[in-house]
Amino acid sequence: MSDETTDEPNDVSPDASDTAGKASRSNRGALVLLTLLVVGGGVWFLRGPSLEQIMKDNFKGAHSVTNRVLDGEGTDADYRQLLQAYTRMSTLTPPKGDAASWKEKTDALVAAAQLLVDGKKDEGVAALETAADCKACHKVHR
Ligand code: HEC
Repeated sequence: MSDETTDEPNDVSPDASDTAGKASRSNRGALVLLTLLVVGGGVWFLRGPSLEQIMKDNFKGAHSVTNRVLDGEGTDADYRQLLQAYTRMSTLTPPKGDAASWKEKTDALVAAAQLLVDGKKDEGVAALETAADCKACHKVHR
């Protein structure tokens, strides 16, 4: 791609105009892409992560934050992260299942994380064991 012409706004010779036209069309494409990224990023930032992202960041895998906490290896930072993630989950709408069931399940997660944040580790882990039942929730809501 010859970008030289676009770096010289004073170059209005007829020979350069064709190339300049092509360059500005591709610049426009780049601008649209950039705008989408900025707007998309802004929306993501304002709205917070999606359910999918929360699952990936907090549940998925043996070493996920949720599983680490369930194994009794959670830190205070983990507890706060879970409280935030579960609270956000409760504001989102799952792909399937009714709202009352979703509220019940996510409220249980939030309550468990709140116990952990409040320093009630044993109670919190026990509550989380029930609340973070992957299959029970996926069967109804995923
Ligand atoms: C309270 C409900 C709930 C619980 C508990 C839950 N999940 Fe999920 N999970 C969901 C929903 C709803 C989706 C579908 C999200 C979507 O597609 O928008 C999902 C999707 C996923 C995904 C797919 C994400 C992707 O990459 O698209 C993974 C992986 C996952 N969950 C792992 C887990 C694991 C592991 C556990 C247990 C430790 C767990 N989840 C517990 C509700 C839950």
